[in-house]
Amino acid sequence: MQIHDTIESFRAARPTMGRLAFVPTMGNLHDGHIALMTQAAGHADIVAASIFVNRLQFGVGEDFDRYPRTFAEDCQRLEAAGVRHLFAPDESVIYPAPQRYHVAPPAEQTGILEGACRPGHFNGMATVVLKLLLIVQPEVALFGKKDYQQLMVIRNMVRELNVPVEVVPGETVRAADGLALSSRNGYLSTTERAEAPRLHRLLNGIRIALQAGERDIPRLEIEALEELAAHGWQPDYIAVRRRSDLQPPQGDDALVVLAAAKLGGTRLIDNLEI
Ligand code: PAF
Repeated sequence: MQIHDTIESFRAARPTMGRLAFVPTMGNLHDGHIALMTQAAGHADIVAASIFVNRLQFGVGEDFDRYPRTFAEDCQRLEAAGVRHLFAPDESVIYPAPQRYHVAPPAEQTGILEGACRPGHFNGMATVVLKLLLIVQPEVALFGKKDYQQLMVIRNMVRELNVPVEVVPGETVRAADGLALSSRNGYLSTTERAEAPRLHRLLNGIRIALQAGERDIPRLEIEALEELAAHGWQPDYIAVRRRSDLQPPQGDDALVVLAAAKLGGTRLIDNLEI
């Protein structure tokens, strides 16, 4: 695997790569990331990944400083997964000067759910994703469904800004007890790790109820929020939304149920399509 720490180095190698599938990451790779790399290989001649912890998408008081940096292990995993190029720039490469131009997705997409809880997060995320796509210039880019709202924002950005890339979603990878894999799971204590699968169980309960014909969505959401609170969580939201734009459902929309909640000092998110 070739590691590029400058834009010039990646751009010089790009013509040798043919059809390229790209998986951007912030590192601390787990099996969910590796599944995306494997899926990427089915879409192109060559797979490239990036590792960049993007300060711009972390809010004040969030975990930018303690976000796990595990570069050597990540490189081993990427090599083993057949990734041929890694773009791993320093902050000074991506932000050589304060970033003054930003992607500002519309409020109806960023003022809800994750956007409402993490003001500025999607502007910072979309800004770096656009920069990475312009640097790497892949034919295909893969993003996990675990960050469902992120995937929606990126799809809309790519469509509305005519970015020449196909966005491909990857399924969420889970531990045997249902917990969605996430770099942040490493923050959980042993007791919290044992409690954490409750989030998935509750989402699954809502899915089963809706599939069985239950229509009282507010009751399902409130009961799930109460159960989390009763077990020591601080929930931000549990919300059944339509998949297309994450707005409240109307009629026969295809649905997804999304959740975010803090367990101790760790904020977990998850979702299930219904
Ligand atoms: O999902 C992530 O890891 C990040 O939000 C991304 C897409 C790499 C942008 O920093």
